[in-house]
Amino acid sequence: MAKCLALSLIILGLFIGLVSPQWNILNLGWGKRVEEVNPEWNILNHILREKVVGDNLKNYCESWRINVELNNIRGFSVVPQECVEHVKKYMTSSQYKADSMRAVEEIRLYLSGCCTSKGDGKDSWIFDIDETLLSTIPYYKKHGFGGEKLNLTSLEAWMKQSKAPALDHTLELFHEIKNRGFKIFLVSSRKESLRSATVDNLVNVGYHGWTTLKLRGFDDELVEVKKYNSKVRQELVDEGYRIWGIVGDQWSTFDGLPIPNRTFKLPNSIYYKA
Ligand SMILES: *[C@@H]1O[C@H](CO)[C@@H](O)[C@H](O)[C@H]1NC(C)=O
Ligand SMILES: *[C@@H]1O[C@H](CO)[C@@H](O)[C@H](O)[C@H]1NC(C)=O
Repeated sequence: MAKCLALSLIILGLFIGLVSPQWNILNLGWGKRVEEVNPEWNILNHILREKVVGDNLKNYCESWRINVELNNIRGFSVVPQECVEHVKKYMTSSQYKADSMRAVEEIRLYLSGCCTSKGDGKDSWIFDIDETLLSTIPYYKKHGFGGEKLNLTSLEAWMKQSKAPALDHTLELFHEIKNRGFKIFLVSSRKESLRSATVDNLVNVGYHGWTTLKLRGFDDELVEVKKYNSKVRQELVDEGYRIWGIVGDQWSTFDGLPIPNRTFKLPNSIYYKA
């Protein structure tokens, strides 16, 4: 391993010599922040950089984005600097819309064959909020589009304005699921202090008729998002609810027990919640 690494670094050294202007572009900031999360990435980044040289940036950034969606890249605190433009392009593109619409179509397909309702009011569905029912993209457009470390104070100040637009395809789906007689639970990692702003925002853009909105209380803020989400699911199951499906944009929405029957992941490569 050590030999292999040394060899890689030597080859890398040669490469840098050969293509240094390009390497310098790629080198801008990449890796600096992920190291905070996992020091081993430092080494990995060196090796990857070596491979990236000569490929085009678009391929590199698209594979970064896809690997975020695949849950292979975890715990990033910012989008790699050289990929911010790429991620921005995607998240504001018709492809992002098409990908989200496809997910919604798959949910419809699942709904058409599942879920024989017992009519006892216990059939339920869970929605996440940000990047699922509402879009925070207008905020990120003004704040570095994932390329800047999250400033929670400023994001929450924006959320308090209740101006987040709906994601149209999920809005339709929300009402379809509700009209099928499912109880809808909204489970978000937003704080309890944002409750009234969140409710106002949801109602303003057309969401209504959910059963419960679960936000993170003070105690919940101390635990990881995934533990919080699984705790909420356990409470619902303990109350006798049958959770047929969950829609969210973060893998931490689905993690842990009880395992939901189906999960549907919407795209989001701007930020990661553990
Ligand atoms: C975060 O945002 C708040 C409110 O916009 C601002 O006052 C503060 O300086 C920001 N903090 C950092 C570290 O940028
Ligand atoms: C989940 O799937 C299993 C079998 O696939 C089924 O028996 C069960 O009723 C489904 N629904 C829920 C909410 O668990």
